[in-house]
Amino acid sequence: MNCVVFYQQISNDLLIEGLQGQVIGEGMTIKVAINGYGTIGKRVADAVDAQDDMEIVGVTKTRPAFGCDLAVRKGYPIYCTFDEQERIDAFGKAGYECHGGLSDLLSVADIVVDCSPGKVGASNKEKYQSAGVKWIFQGGEKHAMTELSYTSSANHQENLNAQGTRVVSCNTTGLSRTLVPLYNHCGELSVECTMIRRAADPGDSNKGPINAIKPVLKVPSHHGPDVMTVKPQISINSMAVAVPTTIMHVHVIVATLPEGHGLTTDKVLSMWDSQPRIILMNGGETGITTTAEVMEFARDIGRKWGDLHEIFVWKDGVKLEGNTLYYFQAIHQESDVIPENVDAIRALMGVESDWNKSVSKTDLAISKYNNI
Ligand SMILES: NC(=O)c1ccc[n+]([C@@H]2O[C@H](COP(=O)([O-])OP(=O)(O)OC[C@H]3O[C@@H](n4cnc5c(N)ncnc54)[C@H](OP(=O)(O)O)[C@@H]3O)[C@@H](O)[C@H]2O)c1
Repeated sequence: MNCVVFYQQISNDLLIEGLQGQVIGEGMTIKVAINGYGTIGKRVADAVDAQDDMEIVGVTKTRPAFGCDLAVRKGYPIYCTFDEQERIDAFGKAGYECHGGLSDLLSVADIVVDCSPGKVGASNKEKYQSAGVKWIFQGGEKHAMTELSYTSSANHQENLNAQGTRVVSCNTTGLSRTLVPLYNHCGELSVECTMIRRAADPGDSNKGPINAIKPVLKVPSHHGPDVMTVKPQISINSMAVAVPTTIMHVHVIVATLPEGHGLTTDKVLSMWDSQPRIILMNGGETGITTTAEVMEFARDIGRKWGDLHEIFVWKDGVKLEGNTLYYFQAIHQESDVIPENVDAIRALMGVESDWNKSVSKTDLAISKYNNI
């Protein structure tokens, strides 16, 4: 059984009490395992590594392939996704030190961030439960399986000390960033939106389309309704199409505000400006008029992989007419959920109850890590 059963914050000191009575005090860290060291997993690993209150105790690979070298360079212990001795031994034969199977990794972890491919994670839940570790799944898993979902701004409090949760998908995280502050102001919100989605990640060679626009024929798409797993009070529907690009999704959003909302276009912009992880820019003035320039701007910021953790909103694409708010936003699909995973770890471990404080700590540490 792992030491973490419940975490307590006493005065200003971080004190973490475990089953066996040991207290993890200031200077000690939350031990985080990453199960699935792929697109999301490698990014979450670095974001965790950047924090002073948590550390990576290991990452898993299914086999000794592409990705192991990065883990070696970063000094993250490699474990095999599976417990079979033959599969573990394959790493040694390929020249990588493998510290054991998933069970071995779970035995030294307080919490596991499952970054396995969508729908695969569900089969891992039982392993986490029987190992007694806390767990975080990603947006490829269903809310019904995890029974709790997370975005930093929507429901950090509800996730405090929970056994496990799901950081919602990149699209849902993006919607939550701009819609939750609007809802908090208005007390009521009804939204229709269209997701224009990238066809494949830059590292994927087996997804498409490459010469078509592909509507998601399941209507409504899961993205909008998924917002209600973190903020059920927002009434929202979405439709989606996939287009041949590998970076970013664009959301076309129409929100109906209640009578007497008291907002103007400028007030909405100021509201978003005061929120973390939203970037507002004027496309006409800056020349950032498409996702290509947004991603070039992100590369200029200097985060690893050219990531953009923030949601990008074009100021000149925002208009409030009466009770109807129109806007576009762009999402870097591989990275907006990364800082949310760090905040979700703090929520589950009960070490920071204020979402804003966690967000600031997370983002500052990531900036320092990237020398920004
Ligand atoms: N990519 C995005 O844009 C994005 C955005 C937000 C959320 N998500 C969600 O994040 C999750 C991970 O997506 P991803 O894009 O990172 O996928 P990915 O790039 O395909 O990476 C998945 C990793 O999981 C490993 N894996 C395969 N089977 C496994 C198993 N049974 N148990 C544990 N790990 C296993 C693979 O390991 P090997 O490499 O060793 O084979 C691979 O490294 C999904 O739920 C996805 O929906 C993805």
